[in-house]
Amino acid sequence: MGRPTTRVIYVDARDPEEEALWQAAQVLRSGGLVAFPTETVYGLGADATHEEAVTRLYQVKQRPPERPLIVHVTDAQQAWRLAHSVPAQAEELAQRFWPGPLTIVLPRHQEVPRVTCGGGDTIALRAPDHPIAQGLLRLAERPVAAPSANLSGAVSPVTAGHVLADFEGKLEMVLDGGRCRLGIESTVLDLTCQPPRVLRPGAVSLEALRQVIGEATWAEEPLEQRYKPRADVVLVEVQAGSERLAAVVEEARAGGDRVGLAGTAEGVRGVEADVVEVWGRRADAPGIARNLYVCLRRLDEAAVDLIVAEGLTGPGSEAAMHRLRSAAGRIVDAEHGQERPGGEELAV
Ligand code: TXA
Ligand code: MG
Repeated sequence: MGRPTTRVIYVDARDPEEEALWQAAQVLRSGGLVAFPTETVYGLGADATHEEAVTRLYQVKQRPPERPLIVHVTDAQQAWRLAHSVPAQAEELAQRFWPGPLTIVLPRHQEVPRVTCGGGDTIALRAPDHPIAQGLLRLAERPVAAPSANLSGAVSPVTAGHVLADFEGKLEMVLDGGRCRLGIESTVLDLTCQPPRVLRPGAVSLEALRQVIGEATWAEEPLEQRYKPRADVVLVEVQAGSERLAAVVEEARAGGDRVGLAGTAEGVRGVEADVVEVWGRRADAPGIARNLYVCLRRLDEAAVDLIVAEGLTGPGSEAAMHRLRSAAGRIVDAEHGQERPGGEELAV
């Protein structure tokens, strides 16, 4: 296949034009790729039942074939048709959190192509809470596999511009619905084990899940290096205040690096770096999550050699901290001044 021309269509995020959604749905129905906004991040969509389309999606994203995709649906009814069995907990969670930023992992129905699920026997399902995503799913009349619309391992996109930076000329269409409301990916919950395990923290907290299903735990998995900007990242945990942050920046600059600093309004105060990005006030966890990827991408655009990121604490910061720990090559423990490795480049 030759290089497709990527059509960008502006769509009203609150009241999407039916004609634009219809065109995008036709692209999906004929096996093409469409990037579209959700309330979390932009997704790179393909018909989940179309093996060739899904295979091409993996190739375009440069994603390892064994890493499964999230399949997007309009509602629970459509979701359960893609699962081999549906526990009562799934019903309860869908009632409470769908449409919304929760992905539920269930046993895969045999009719869903294996390739969509990374070759495995489980399927990740989510009903997104965004009028464009919902309209597209309704008109496509089929489930849509959509990973975040970034090259594998890199920072997720929260604007159409971010999508184009990675994929211009590689997809048929991008629906531009402006900036994503939450800015960080969904919580992924595995319901194929007991107690259920959170595989990835997101906008739905562990506490909120426990209120619905009782017990749920964090998955203890090796931290993989993902969500990574081009520049290397050092994460400085914050408990000891800003002095350690300043020392890490100063040391890197003294070594000749152009250093980008990303942190809270309170944390970056008085710290001198080459470029500074503020992702919000310390107490505003949702605001920080919304700005996290925008700040990291801006620092890459500013061509820094190293990004020093301020760690986050407090309720609601788990998802952002998970992404920063994964992205970081080094983590500086501010309390003890010690260092440990961040996300590891796992062999695939
Ligand atoms: O908010 C989101 O979840 C966004 C939007 C577009 O919906 N999507 C997204 O997809 O972040 P992706 O592919 O970038 O991340 C999906 C995560 C990966 O960590 C993947 O390993 C996990 O979900 N996952 C998908 N299917 C799975 C399965 N069957 N079992 C376990 N984990 C799964
Ligand atoms: Mg992703």
